[in-house]
Amino acid sequence: MSTADTTLGDLTRRQLHNLCRVVGMDRTDPLRLLGEVLGAARDRPLSRPPLWPSDIADDATPIEYSVQVDDGGGRHLRILAETLPAAPGPAANLRAAQHLVTALAERYDLALDQLRAVEDLFSPEEPQGRFSWWFSFIFDADGRPRFKIYFNPDVRGADHAGEVVREAFNRLGLDGAHPTVVDYALRREADRLTFFALDLDNSPQSRVKLYVSQHDACVDDVERAASAVPGIDRYQVGDFCRTLAPGVERFPGRPLVSSYSFVEGDREKPSNYSIYLPLRDYVPDDSVARVRVRQHLRRHRIDPAMLDEVIGALTDRDLAARAGLLAHVSVRLSPDQTGTTIYASSEAYAGTAPEN
Ligand code: TRP
Repeated sequence: MSTADTTLGDLTRRQLHNLCRVVGMDRTDPLRLLGEVLGAARDRPLSRPPLWPSDIADDATPIEYSVQVDDGGGRHLRILAETLPAAPGPAANLRAAQHLVTALAERYDLALDQLRAVEDLFSPEEPQGRFSWWFSFIFDADGRPRFKIYFNPDVRGADHAGEVVREAFNRLGLDGAHPTVVDYALRREADRLTFFALDLDNSPQSRVKLYVSQHDACVDDVERAASAVPGIDRYQVGDFCRTLAPGVERFPGRPLVSSYSFVEGDREKPSNYSIYLPLRDYVPDDSVARVRVRQHLRRHRIDPAMLDEVIGALTDRDLAARAGLLAHVSVRLSPDQTGTTIYASSEAYAGTAPEN
């Protein structure tokens, strides 16, 4: 599919173009934003190693696609991305992300009050951990974007993650949030704060989101995490895990991740819970991953044909060759709605990932 001078920008543009077609949305904003967020990585030939070992994807590709489908049928296309400057490094990457926020804020009239209230916590001079700020662009049926920013709780060192997150919640008027998360999802030594995320818009649905990686967790541990949200059926979380990873009692590979969303009006208790399952670690290859995801979609009365369209938009490789294309699957549970998101890799560098 690629020649020697194909760049990361060429490949991902083609993939995103195809995805917009299968999801049925206008591609003007998606393609433009893709080019911008790739930054200095965009014009780099794929024959050269990745510019930076981004943790967005296993092979260091700095973007990941996802398709979100509500049980009601509504669809969104999303891109998760790390923007990279020409001379990347922890501090330079953070500055590149800050510049991109400023540029996007002007063009899209973003609401930055919440970001401004907490950004210093997540912007030390010498950032630590796997990243500082990531972006997600969430496109609606018309291809219009909404923006989300992910901060790294470990950016001041893993020992400070708890304080940083507590302070961020407090500054946003969510004093009760941190104790709830501690009670329900940070009960074990192996439960780790992973992302603190903000929607950059002013709507009442605008979310403050916290993600916890639950290493080595059992289904009971994530059901317990889900029970923080009033009015949802925690056992759906177990059904989800058993459909995607049948026979797995404990998840010793990449961790299950629990997330909570707090919206306007939420105090101690969040109003939705999501579970993310890193499917690629619990299948022999993507042909098996595909069958499992189809089963999950059918149970949720979502047409499984869309999965093959998404796969076909990204690659024509033999699915049985390896795992990794279907990276994660998540379900989002709120009292009035359930939705599924499928995270798919670009695999731009698959097979050439640097050792790190
Ligand atoms: N690649 C990282 C991981 O797997 C970060 C990441 C990308 C992630 N997409 C995700 C984490 C979706 C959870 C869910 O941990």
